[in-house]
Amino acid sequence: MKLTILGGGGFRVPLVYGALLGDHADGRVTRVVLHDVDAGRLRAIVRVLAERAAGVPDAPEVTATTDLDEALRGADFVFSAIRVGGLEGRADDERIALAEGVLGQETVGAGGIAFGLRTVPVAVDIARRVARLAPDAWVINFTNPAGLVTEAMSRHLGDRVIGICDSPVGLGRRVARVLGARPAEAWVDYVGLNHLGWVRGLRIAGRDELPRLLADPVLLGSFEEGRLFGADWLRSLGAIPNEYLHYYYFNREAVHGYREAGRTRGAFLRDQQAGFYAGVADPAVPALELWDRTRAEREATYMAENREAAGAGEREAEDLSGGYENVALALMRAIARDERATLILNVRNRGTLAALDGDAVIEVPCLVDAHGAHPVAVDPLPGHATGLVCAVKAVEREVLDAARSGSRTTAVKAFALHPLVDSVNVARRLVDGYTAVHPGLAYLR
Ligand code: G6P
Ligand code: MN
Repeated sequence: MKLTILGGGGFRVPLVYGALLGDHADGRVTRVVLHDVDAGRLRAIVRVLAERAAGVPDAPEVTATTDLDEALRGADFVFSAIRVGGLEGRADDERIALAEGVLGQETVGAGGIAFGLRTVPVAVDIARRVARLAPDAWVINFTNPAGLVTEAMSRHLGDRVIGICDSPVGLGRRVARVLGARPAEAWVDYVGLNHLGWVRGLRIAGRDELPRLLADPVLLGSFEEGRLFGADWLRSLGAIPNEYLHYYYFNREAVHGYREAGRTRGAFLRDQQAGFYAGVADPAVPALELWDRTRAEREATYMAENREAAGAGEREAEDLSGGYENVALALMRAIARDERATLILNVRNRGTLAALDGDAVIEVPCLVDAHGAHPVAVDPLPGHATGLVCAVKAVEREVLDAARSGSRTTAVKAFALHPLVDSVNVARRLVDGYTAVHPGLAYLR
């Protein structure tokens, strides 16, 4: 079985490959083709993978190419994990938004819109090529903003594109852990959009255990989201929000924390990864070791400003290995071998949330089998959550329209309608600022 990874020179590719190395069953991935626009990054990651595969007799064969069509031809699965504009682009997204006093984050608020506007045209081009060159392939989209990008691709690939994110999985795992349950025995009632969802219940043997967690201040203080949002607010909500909702519920503090930080997240990662890729270019440097050290530092500093703003302290050791690679592997196995699994995924709504149309991509538990991912029926969200979901989906739709039409006016509308952008004038200046620095936005006229 052939797996093509787009963004194959990306820093997290060794995580995915590491998961594949642990899979020895029939029907596993035997060939990995890495595609990237940057041959130097490909060389670096190929070195790391070779060191990781050492001593594993059935390690999947790895090849690398900068030719997209060649990479796609004959693929059974395509992982898309690209970053249009690179980490420099992410840092620009953050800086320009923060200069206007609004949030700059790669998936939320103004930064997410800017990232979406330059990613969607590239993702659509990829989707069209997949439809032509590998019509039977399943596409697993990691590319952020993952919900929006998955929806853009679904217009060309239908339900053969599935978006993934490890953040709801991590949340479900943490809530199960503090309740003393094994994640496998718990049903996590989670729904929303990517990076905009809520755990409304956690059922173990038919009983909802979430009320027990919400009633217990000690338990609430013992995990990441409990500390981030605080016991009082979680009790008011009666749910546990995805960590990215910190940017909404504590927007002022998050923006303040980001403005005060010496470097934004994107700028930190840009510098950190520049050091990694330069280091690995030296054949004397042990590639896997350097990669692993860089990874550990990245994971330890994830959402550091939000945790600091909330006084939430350091991340737990168990939370440091996100599970990103395991979601991807579980999804591939379920489809390729018809091993039924339940996973929280980004798929078309098809009537799951009545407030959204059928084509809107949402994040929801899905039953996965050889026929794909089937969203399960869920209870409706409360009004405040429906309001946010609908507002953000409307913004995503403006982004998709702007990417299709190239209309600058529509791009302004996307920014202006976002709940975290507080003035139409700010939206206009954001479009000016972003189009001035991003070559990938030259299409907006
Ligand atoms: C979480 C999010 C992903 C994000 C990742 C890395 O897992 O769900 O969407 O890509 O963190 O974040 P970072 O800030 O390290 O790039
Ligand atoms: Mn994510």
